[in-house]
Amino acid sequence: MIELKDVRRTYLRGTPQQTVALDRVSLDVPAGQWVTVVGSNGAGKSTLLRLVAGIEQPDVGEILIDGRVVTRQAEYRRAHLVGRLDQDPLASTAPGLSIEQNLAIAMMRGRRRGLGLSVTKARRKVIAAALEPLGMGLEQRLSAPVGTLSGGQRQAMAMIMATIAQPRALLLDEHIAALDPRAAELVMSITQRLVSAHHLTTLMVTHNMQFALRYGDRLIVMHRGHIVVDLSGTAKTEMDVPALVELFHRVTGDDVVTDRILLA
Ligand SMILES: Nc1ncnc2c1ncn2[C@@H]1O[C@H](COP(=O)(O)OP(=O)(O)OP(=O)(O)O)[C@@H](O)[C@H]1O
Ligand SMILES: [Mg+2]
Repeated sequence: MIELKDVRRTYLRGTPQQTVALDRVSLDVPAGQWVTVVGSNGAGKSTLLRLVAGIEQPDVGEILIDGRVVTRQAEYRRAHLVGRLDQDPLASTAPGLSIEQNLAIAMMRGRRRGLGLSVTKARRKVIAAALEPLGMGLEQRLSAPVGTLSGGQRQAMAMIMATIAQPRALLLDEHIAALDPRAAELVMSITQRLVSAHHLTTLMVTHNMQFALRYGDRLIVMHRGHIVVDLSGTAKTEMDVPALVELFHRVTGDDVVTDRILLA
């Protein structure tokens, strides 16, 4: 479903700051698989997700989504296939607009013909039905400005926004990093429900080793632009946090186990 073939991405090419963020990375994620991605700061995790989303293009290599080459395809042209969410609950929503207006915009994502901001009766029904399972009562507050929601409520709503246009793939870049532990647990359980309900092929970057192990079907560790560990099946289910940290040390060297990872 998501395929990278020998992909390289260089930043600031030809300058002293030149960085190879991804160094000939190949990855094949079958439909419906959920991959958790961990790695030290600067490993290339966000770059990987940006390339799949089409926000950036690789210098060499190929990217395929659903069997189609999308390597140089603009972001908006694959937006209907790919839902995205980053860590900032403020960035993914429009605070001045109401809950239902935000959801209405998300529903138009990747659609050729805009339906405008108006919220019709039929659309309001779809929006309320999508929000109801969150158990936050947001469906009762459809006209409330999103700026009045808590961080956790906003990120939960943003999860609904990322999936309401029925994408095939979901890209989560530390989407729980800015939340307190309770909100993080809540947003993770919402994530799990949405991924399985929509059979979403998912790449989830996290610094939380526990979540990386508990969720998903496969775990990859990235380091300096490479995938250095790739675990699935029992290799993943039988792994615990200490063993993963130990493996991390072994494959990457001591310097890279950041405080953030150990604290998570
Ligand atoms: N726009 C850019 N311009 C220059 N260098 C960049 C740019 N974006 C990323 N890089 C560099 O590419 C490398 C990979 O960055 P990336 O953001 O993918 O890392 P990451 O694994 O997501 O790290 P983190 O855990 O800190 O989010 C880093 O060395 C980073 O400094
Ligand atoms: Mg990142």
